[in-house]
Amino acid sequence: MKLSVKPLHALFVAEVSGIDLSAALDNSVLEGIVRASDRYAVLVFRNQHLDDAQQIAFSAHFGPLETSIKQLRPDHRFRLDPQVADISNLDAQGKLLPCADRNRMYGLGDRLWHTDSSFKAIPAKYSLLSARAIPAKGGETQFTDLRAAYDALPEDVRTQIEDLVAEHSILYSRSTIGFTDFSPEERAGLAPVPQKLVRVHPGSQRKTLYLASHAMGIRGMPIPEARLLLTDLMEHATRSQFVYTHRWQLGDLVMWDDRCTMHRARPYDMAQVRDMHRTTVSDVASTLDQLVFPTPLARSKLRGIPKGAK
Ligand code: OGA
Ligand code: MN
Repeated sequence: MKLSVKPLHALFVAEVSGIDLSAALDNSVLEGIVRASDRYAVLVFRNQHLDDAQQIAFSAHFGPLETSIKQLRPDHRFRLDPQVADISNLDAQGKLLPCADRNRMYGLGDRLWHTDSSFKAIPAKYSLLSARAIPAKGGETQFTDLRAAYDALPEDVRTQIEDLVAEHSILYSRSTIGFTDFSPEERAGLAPVPQKLVRVHPGSQRKTLYLASHAMGIRGMPIPEARLLLTDLMEHATRSQFVYTHRWQLGDLVMWDDRCTMHRARPYDMAQVRDMHRTTVSDVASTLDQLVFPTPLARSKLRGIPKGAK
């Protein structure tokens, strides 16, 4: 298999072709995908008609998979395997959800800019979303490049935010659109978690903002000041030059790096079916506990080894 990688945006995002994701893939192909992902952060694979088992098998090459937080609700009826997030407007029987249904209201939170699972102590590394049914229009997914957004910040802002730690909570982000229907078990299981506001993306060694609508405060900063800073950063990071809009075709699988991007869903006609299945690969540790491996150049400086010496 020979991978071909074609950029779809000036800063990030590429279409990867020449590959069948349902086939057995050898290490060189998987490494090629990781390399492309490290460079482009969002990879689009077209014409991949995967079933859930095939999507799980492909995703599991990249690390352990998350399971649904809906397991915190014992009464939740799953349509899909708990390793596959149900990003649809369907109930457990595959029928359209009524307009004011809790699951539909909960799902509307995906329309806020976010990165997956930043509200978990160990957040997501990659998300893989496959299009099984799509509406005739609307329902796009937008992505934003948080490494490029970081690079474009003024120097004084970069210095100001370098060591800041944000608190992330999905209860908070849902509350901003008026959704507060969480059980005591969910409230206990989804308490706010700390995440670095600036992190180093391991595969590229580039610094990146790590932001989401889940960010509700900053440690050691008064709440109004923190929220205003977060609002300014969100506004900056979602300026049009950093944004790619994905218009779905049936059979698309989009794999994105949650460590250095945000995304959001766009509206569509809820009388039509939109059925997307997401698998999510966990990161290795909280952003606070991740070791940052210096580049060879930085390492040689640390050790005082002259450049070029072995
Ligand atoms: C997700 C998500 C956006 C969409 O699957 O994590 O936010 O367009 N999806 O459905
Ligand atoms: Mn998401």
